[in-house]
Amino acid sequence: MQTKDIQSQTYYTEECRRILKDQEQEQGRRLTYFAQSSGCQMNNLQTESVCAVMEQIGCERAEDEHADVVIYNTCTVRENANQKIYGHLGRLKSLKKKNPRMKIVVFGCMMQEEHVVEKIRKDYTFVNLVFGTHNLHKFPEMFYHALLSDSQIIDIWKDSQEIVEGLPTLRKYRFKTGVNIMFGCNNFCSYCIVPYVRGREKSREPEAILKEIRELTEDGVTEVMLLGQNVNSYGKTLARPVSFARLLEQVEEVPGLKRIRFLTSHPKDLSDELIEVMAGSKKVCHHLHLPLQSGSSRILKEMNRRYDKEKYLGLVEKIRKAIPDISLTTDIIVGFPGETEEDFLDTLDVVNRCGFDTAFTFKYSRRTGTPAAKMPDQIPDDIVAERFNRLLALVQEKGRIASARFLGETREVLVEEKNRESGILTGRTEHNLLVHFPGPEELIGSYVQVKLTECKGFYYFGVLSE
Ligand code: 5AD
Ligand code: SF4
Repeated sequence: MQTKDIQSQTYYTEECRRILKDQEQEQGRRLTYFAQSSGCQMNNLQTESVCAVMEQIGCERAEDEHADVVIYNTCTVRENANQKIYGHLGRLKSLKKKNPRMKIVVFGCMMQEEHVVEKIRKDYTFVNLVFGTHNLHKFPEMFYHALLSDSQIIDIWKDSQEIVEGLPTLRKYRFKTGVNIMFGCNNFCSYCIVPYVRGREKSREPEAILKEIRELTEDGVTEVMLLGQNVNSYGKTLARPVSFARLLEQVEEVPGLKRIRFLTSHPKDLSDELIEVMAGSKKVCHHLHLPLQSGSSRILKEMNRRYDKEKYLGLVEKIRKAIPDISLTTDIIVGFPGETEEDFLDTLDVVNRCGFDTAFTFKYSRRTGTPAAKMPDQIPDDIVAERFNRLLALVQEKGRIASARFLGETREVLVEEKNRESGILTGRTEHNLLVHFPGPEELIGSYVQVKLTECKGFYYFGVLSE
């Protein structure tokens, strides 16, 4: 069934290619596309799949919206991302007047919300194709219809039961990439829209994941990032359940792979088995992203996070004991409904005690349809802003101290890119710390030893030590 789906998409890909070739000949130039992704790493992967189709049908990537096809993959986790997309669309209207054949595609999480689609249908009639998060595998078919039609095509699926394997992708880096291991989320944290727009949790079969990673390593990939909203509950819903720790052990056996990362962990599901596997592994990077969200047990309960302050602190202690050099990063929300100064001080207390390398801090954003949006006592903007600034100052102060702990050491770095202006190379240590150092471009994609000579807060300067 899945293979048949993909096969029929190959037919539509060919048809799109034929139509665009005719247009190219008419216009006497290559057609271009522009694609922009907002939000999480999973969105980035989906955008890469769409880009792969665009290249297959013969379009060339453009640097900005002056293109024949403009594609936005949207995020709706926080309100400001939503507003940005309307701004982008507003600007596209005049570009489309100059190039009436321009096709505009908007997809992703925001499109799973009815009021958003209604607004696009009414106020942004020049958008050609709208789809959500569940039918990306049909992109060639939907785009084919959009090429042939002048009216707006909207195709939103409420949820999907199955996982379609074998989508094409176009990697940003030839040596590292993300790999989806699961989709959706069942946690229903009370502030979060994700379970509503991404649907119920579904895990890929371990065999499918391992096959993909084997193919990737044969194609030059040495670092993978296993992706899911809550990787610690991976495999629970499979016909033959497998734990995430067991999956990691299997991934570790793939020849040619050097580094394994994963995102995101939920503290409530992080098992001793996983800590043990991480501690004993040569490939699993010693970096854990463990969203705290709040340090107040009362607020955590209201958030439906199913752990409290003590449990989180205990977990961090256990992890540090088993993996002393671990890098911990986190997400924190400020100004959840009902948050008092005392609750907020609990958050500062946890930040003080955990030694996070980095914390991504967010002002609470009221998402229509989530339980928290209806809670009384929404916090006024000025109080949220004031707390946010205090938290940011502490996070930065602590982050500087934690990040500097490798100063003077020589560490292995995967070289990622060369800065065009300065000519300096940039890479990452296993702990996900950025390092800038002089060296030849040929090193991109390889692992080198770099002495970390200067810490600049969240990144290092270094020198090659071989
Ligand atoms: N408001 C603010 N931040 C949010 N996040 C998720 N939903 C919201 C919201 N409504 C944050 C959480 C999550 C990260 C991806 O986004 O911290 O871990
Ligand atoms: Fe949202 Fe919570 Fe699921 Fe993360 S675990 S995606 S915060 S509902």
